[in-house]
Amino acid sequence: MPSNLIPSRDRKVVVIGQGYVGLPVAMRAVEVGFSVVGIDIDERRVAGLQQGVSYVDDISNDTLSAALASGAYVASHEYSVAADFDFAVITVPTPLKDSHPDLTYIEEAAAALAPHVRPGATVVLESTTYPGTTVELFVPILEQGSGLSAETDFHVGYSPERIDPGNPTFGFVNTPKVVSGHGSAALDSVDAFYSTLVDRTVRVATPAEAELTKLIENTFRHVNIALVNELATFAHQLGVDIWQAIDAAATKPFGYMKFTPGPGVGGHCLPVDPSYLSWQVRRKLGKQFRFVELANDVNDHMPDYVVQRSQAMLNAIERSIKGSKIMLVGLAYKANTGDIRESPALRLIELLLDLGANLTGVDSHVEEYRWPRGVAVGELTEQSVSEQHLVIVLTQHSDVDLDPLRSTSTLVLDTKNLLPGTGAQPL
Ligand SMILES: NC(=O)c1ccc[n+]([C@@H]2O[C@H](COP(=O)([O-])OP(=O)(O)OC[C@H]3O[C@@H](n4cnc5c(N)ncnc54)[C@H](O)[C@@H]3O)[C@@H](O)[C@H]2O)c1
Repeated sequence: MPSNLIPSRDRKVVVIGQGYVGLPVAMRAVEVGFSVVGIDIDERRVAGLQQGVSYVDDISNDTLSAALASGAYVASHEYSVAADFDFAVITVPTPLKDSHPDLTYIEEAAAALAPHVRPGATVVLESTTYPGTTVELFVPILEQGSGLSAETDFHVGYSPERIDPGNPTFGFVNTPKVVSGHGSAALDSVDAFYSTLVDRTVRVATPAEAELTKLIENTFRHVNIALVNELATFAHQLGVDIWQAIDAAATKPFGYMKFTPGPGVGGHCLPVDPSYLSWQVRRKLGKQFRFVELANDVNDHMPDYVVQRSQAMLNAIERSIKGSKIMLVGLAYKANTGDIRESPALRLIELLLDLGANLTGVDSHVEEYRWPRGVAVGELTEQSVSEQHLVIVLTQHSDVDLDPLRSTSTLVLDTKNLLPGTGAQPL
């Protein structure tokens, strides 16, 4: 069982990476009573944070400003502020580079933190990665840079993040947190720390198990989305309404979980994480993880399918994509976030621009500096819709009123089935 840790301002928590994952962890640690330092190498982000400007949807400017004003939160791009920390949480990106895991952010963060590790400190990796990273890659860097030994001198663990940006029901606190440690003392320390932040922790025996837990969750989702996406393309050709069929299937009270089709998968997780697992399977076992490869293939091609459907719709009114005015509603990869990373909208935009479309995008959540090139900024009104040849609905934010699309004579391709019973064509 974990020891009973009582947070206090005398205990210092360092959160490395102040992004979608790191900032909520930092704010929660402030809330429960720790002194928190948020370190990020992006100086522009840090400057914004220091002025109380949060770019993470789930953290309001008010929450951030209150944390700054209390003196319990400091944002910096200097690792020197990590001195004398008790707990450090690493939440840096783990992207793919040339289809391979890119762990340089983890390596750099570990190397920069290592000189500040002192006996009794606890360091937890939260970045999503393949099984084996914590013990095989992360621990040696910390040991080398600190001159100390993990297990005997300090503690290292892995705890995957499960944050679901924009989810109104499950947030950081009421989502169970999987915790692990490199050795039993480390597990107790990691568990004690997260027990102060969340309602429930789930202990697993090794960091590799915790790493795999996260990848199982995301691969499961990725594969099931691919299943309904591929089915959607066939159902359309067969003249069957897949949306009705999915809703009917979802009435089964056991053994079924509802997933719905869409224009592809996006964000930091689904297009990336399963490939960490397949890469490790290939590297260590020389085998192909066929489910992941197949799901990647299906999901990656959904924007092509949206283009194909758009072409067919325009063809029916004797138009080509070239020269057509097309409005894209919702550019972020999911509802109620401004996160456009890996959004299928980006690939769709590239394809449509290549074909000569005139594009307008509607998404008030996406910040100006992230707005895709070649796309005019628009609003969803009866007037603006009537000026288009085609509107493609990609994501629905709850503050977007889709009414102008309900009785319009403009063609509407509805990739999320948000406009049933109207003239819009579902995917
Ligand atoms: N966003 C999500 O919904 C989500 C959910 C679960 C897990 N994850 C995982 O969490 C990790 C972080 O994701 P994110 O969405 O928060 O990314 P992010 O890009 O929003 O934030 C990461 C931050 O780390 C900073 N950074 C990079 N290298 C650094 C270094 N050496 N020192 C200090 N700061 C550094 C970046 O400047 C950036 O601000 C990834 O592994 C991701 O897969 C993300």
